[in-house]
Amino acid sequence: MDPDRVLDDIAPDALDGRVVLVTGGSRGIGYAAALELGRLGATVVLVGRDAARAEEAASSLVDLGHDAVGRGCDVAFAPAVARLRDSLGSLAAVDILVCAAGVMSGKTAKTLRTSSEEWHRVMGTNLDGVHHVVSVFGPGMAERRDGRIVNVSACLGRMSGPGTSGGLAAYRVSKAAVNAYTKNLAAELGNGRRGVLVDVTCPAHCRTDMGGPDAPRSAAQGAATAVWLAARPHDDATRTGLLWEDREVIPW
Ligand SMILES: NC(=O)c1ccc[n+]([C@@H]2O[C@H](COP(=O)([O-])OP(=O)(O)OC[C@H]3O[C@@H](n4cnc5c(N)ncnc54)[C@H](OP(=O)(O)O)[C@@H]3O)[C@@H](O)[C@H]2O)c1
Repeated sequence: MDPDRVLDDIAPDALDGRVVLVTGGSRGIGYAAALELGRLGATVVLVGRDAARAEEAASSLVDLGHDAVGRGCDVAFAPAVARLRDSLGSLAAVDILVCAAGVMSGKTAKTLRTSSEEWHRVMGTNLDGVHHVVSVFGPGMAERRDGRIVNVSACLGRMSGPGTSGGLAAYRVSKAAVNAYTKNLAAELGNGRRGVLVDVTCPAHCRTDMGGPDAPRSAAQGAATAVWLAARPHDDATRTGLLWEDREVIPW
């Protein structure tokens, strides 16, 4: 199998006519997800802080024959996310949201050595950013009784396994909070009974600017479960409101 195509079992037109917004879509795992979602027929809105990079990333999808636009938006700031919505016209009716934007804790990252500024920098993007985007684009999904919200978390945020075992404090706690946010929101939306699926995934350690060049997985492999969650059909047997890795449910 082509290492950049880890989703060959999803119908190539699975997302025809759908609008997908990917935060962190300008590079890394978010970009890999955006590319695959474009290949599945979606119109993809790629969002990053750096507008030029987001537009360039979108252009590279368009060059491949996909439908995409890029937008600069710092998701840590609620007014910026409202402006993003206002700039999108008909694309503001987002069907699928992939929240992949994230930042890592700095080097001095143990709890007792984390400054308030650093704490808020990480939480601002990793946790508040998810809520800012969900609160702007989620209500439309709830009204239409149709949608997917896929948050990208990390194994470091789990309360079990390799999770919250010390260090990288703001990052780990932000991801643990994203897990809780996801479970809580899924419950509020009836765990799929009202047409909106809400899930969270751990991509595992991937070769991106954040993960570094020696990580074992490609960005595409890290994005694969998020794309599968975004594209999978919904029926009475669909499991949702859960934490996923490699298409399997894993403990929180
Ligand atoms: N890589 C790994 O090994 C790994 C492992 C577990 C979990 N994750 C998670 O996977 C997600 C993607 O990680 P990655 O490795 O792809 O990271 P990355 O290569 O560093 O890319 C981060 C992306 O997020 C965007 N971003 C950061 N802060 C933002 C903000 N405030 N507003 C809007 N966009 C923002 C960046 O946009 P700009 O280019 O404009 O800065 C970029 O597109 C993150 O949530 C990360 O925590 C990664």
